[in-house]
Amino acid sequence: MIVTIDGPVASGKSTVAQKLAERFGFYYLYTGLLYRALAYALVTSFEYTKKTLEEPAQEDIDVLLAKGRIVYTYDAQGPHIFFDSVEITHLLKSEFVDSISSISSANARVRHAVFLLQQSVAVENNIVADGRDTGTVVFPLAEAKFFLTASLSERARRWRIGQMRQGNSVSEEEARAAVALRDERDTTRVISPLKKAEDAILVDNTDLTIDETVAFMERVVAVCVAKETKHPEL
Ligand code: C5P
Repeated sequence: MIVTIDGPVASGKSTVAQKLAERFGFYYLYTGLLYRALAYALVTSFEYTKKTLEEPAQEDIDVLLAKGRIVYTYDAQGPHIFFDSVEITHLLKSEFVDSISSISSANARVRHAVFLLQQSVAVENNIVADGRDTGTVVFPLAEAKFFLTASLSERARRWRIGQMRQGNSVSEEEARAAVALRDERDTTRVISPLKKAEDAILVDNTDLTIDETVAFMERVVAVCVAKETKHPEL
């Protein structure tokens, strides 16, 4: 079974998705981490710049995606990414990787490569996936779909707290500008722009706590799980 949660930056997707995954014993697929890992690998292995990341060469992507070089796993500690068997998860949340991943993710070759990585995780597991196009493009037949959002001010506030926790000092204005820029890149790109799937449930959590958000979504997923597990003859 597949649950998708799409939404803009700092809408709370990954926190909520992990709680839902834990609650139902599903695997959590953090698709943004795959985009981050590929952008990071392109920059560190081939010296791509912000400009050249707009059009990475297919042969470079192929070299990086050769079997088993980028590996995603999920366990009780959360999601992990390994590149050539070395864990790089902790390197992928910096402001720099934030900005480069939203550049390369607009590229069709990058999206196709990450699409395949996402599909391979879903083949083996019941999953809760979060991202920008999981309900619209990657898993259009998902049993439960959500579009999670919050106001720009609230998301800028949350994003700034995340950056401060990592030791990056960012002003309120800078946070608002960074979040607005990523919104613009994610929603206006030609391929797989961020948008709500028609059959996704819209959840605006500007004024909701995480627990309230999860409680609502949990009720929806529980109904889907009950439908899936119902005896076919009943
Ligand atoms: O979700 P997160 O902010 O970690 O994602 C990093 C970047 O990867 C986003 O800014 C977005 O540009 C891109 N992304 C995407 N499609 C997804 C997940 C992430 O384009 N499904």
